[in-house]
Amino acid sequence: MMTTNNAEAPASTGEAVLAGKSLIQLEGLTKVFETEEVETHALSNIHLTIRQGEWVAIVGPSGSGKSTLLAVLGLLDTATRGAYLLDGLSVLDLSPSDRALVRNRHIGFIFQSFNLIGDLTVFENVELPLTYRGMPAAERKQRVERALEKVGMAHRARHMPGQLSGGQQQRVAVARAVAGDPLILLADEPTGNLDSKNGEAVMQLLSELHKGGATICMVTHDPAHARTATRTVSLFDGRIVQDEQRR
Ligand SMILES: Nc1ncnc2c1ncn2[C@@H]1O[C@H](COP(=O)(O)OP(=O)(O)O)[C@@H](O)[C@H]1O
Ligand SMILES: [Mg+2]
Repeated sequence: MMTTNNAEAPASTGEAVLAGKSLIQLEGLTKVFETEEVETHALSNIHLTIRQGEWVAIVGPSGSGKSTLLAVLGLLDTATRGAYLLDGLSVLDLSPSDRALVRNRHIGFIFQSFNLIGDLTVFENVELPLTYRGMPAAERKQRVERALEKVGMAHRARHMPGQLSGGQQQRVAVARAVAGDPLILLADEPTGNLDSKNGEAVMQLLSELHKGGATICMVTHDPAHARTATRTVSLFDGRIVQDEQRR
């Protein structure tokens, strides 16, 4: 097992600048689901550091804890034990409302099933998280237009999601995720509901965002997609069993 994630360097060294500062730091993170019958250790003692500018693929068999890890990283779920520092802030101690604020401000989500709101236009879907943030309308408009241009969907701003193909809907979902300039993009099987051509287009889009400086953490089943990332973290039974840095 390579433990490249423990290579903690002082912030003042050139190496740290190259590698990017540590954005996400998990220490001994454990998540136990308890039902009447069984106790499931979905995540066991996870130590993981993700640096600014990394593109991490999370892989592993079904049930290995990938979605749970992403949900904890995205502050959609809490942990049973352990520490989670997001850009230096201990986020597991936050109240639910503060957690929601941090999530809205700092995390961009891309889901397998797009999760667009069917009775809002493309523009309104991308705008909604910015509205929750209390951003003024003029700035929202500018951000939404910029994000839709980035994903090549500006010409569909007034369409409803149902009028778009799956590939187009996922591009809108990517625009929604990046419009607020999050610290990190989290994607759970972003190509899972797409045919291979549209899947490749979404991967291409993520590549461009990564080249532009985005930090991405992506769950994938597809080995070729995992290889596109700069690092692959493999889970098995809720544990990290391999951590491979590519460049
Ligand atoms: N809400 C839940 N309640 C109980 N068990 C759960 C819940 N969510 C996930 N699990 C269990 O935790 C383990 C990890 O699940 P998950 O993170 O969804 O895995 P993956 O995304 O890798 O398929 C599985 O054994 C799953 O059954
Ligand atoms: Mg899953």
